[in-house]
Amino acid sequence: MDTSELEAKVRQRGLPKHIGVIMDGNGRWAEARGEDRLVGHREGSTSVREVTRCARRLGVQALTLYAFSSQNWSRPPEEVAGLMDLLREYLLKEREEILGNQIRLNAIGELDRLPRYVKEPLDELRAVSAHHTGMTLTLALSYGGKEELLAATRALMARAVAGTLAPDRLTEELFEQHLWTKGLPPVDLVVRTSGERRLSNFLLWQSAYAELHFTDTHWPDFRAQQLCEAILAYQHRERRFGLTGAQLRRAGT
Ligand code: FPP
Repeated sequence: MDTSELEAKVRQRGLPKHIGVIMDGNGRWAEARGEDRLVGHREGSTSVREVTRCARRLGVQALTLYAFSSQNWSRPPEEVAGLMDLLREYLLKEREEILGNQIRLNAIGELDRLPRYVKEPLDELRAVSAHHTGMTLTLALSYGGKEELLAATRALMARAVAGTLAPDRLTEELFEQHLWTKGLPPVDLVVRTSGERRLSNFLLWQSAYAELHFTDTHWPDFRAQQLCEAILAYQHRERRFGLTGAQLRRAGT
């Protein structure tokens, strides 16, 4: 089946509102070809473009890509620098396409740790696309789920200490208001490429009820076709949210 036929098939059933992707395997993809790891990251940024285009065409509301984790700062300095260069290049090159397609560019993570030459184009694109309603594309940059939960907890504790929040007034909704993903829908589907089967500190709170899709395909080979396949697999799952299958059928969901 070609990609347009797959996309038509995906459209026949409910779409995940929010897809999170752990883009893994750039290094292995490059090493298997005798190339530098950065060649894999570069090819991976082409996958970012293709997957974003496809998600937008399909009408996905939110796509969150794990582009650089808090822990990735400990990689060799030349790889970190290469990734930062690629991010800058991506932000400059994709600007027109993002604006032309009504995409809202968003970012989560400890963004102040990013170098100025990345932070500036990132902030600019976030600001000019802030009113867009087409799809929210979130780049998780210098991101860690535990770091995010700690930041939220710190902010809430500060309010408690200041006497403006009583502990028994803390609800899930209020907690979510303090997460970096504030305003985004819960994650329905997490995709991880390249054979590993773990979350690696990605959207720990937000993916509480997400369906998980693992594929052996390395990220540079993950394109529109593979995204459609992941969504089709998701569409055949029964999401129970703690209820029984019989309860769900009675409720007609
Ligand atoms: C994981 O593969 C991937 C990363 C740490 C970086 C992801 C970056 C990109 C896809 C390109 C730049 C991003 C954007 C948004 C333009 P890995 O290096 O851990 O692979 P390995 O496990 O095979 O070593």
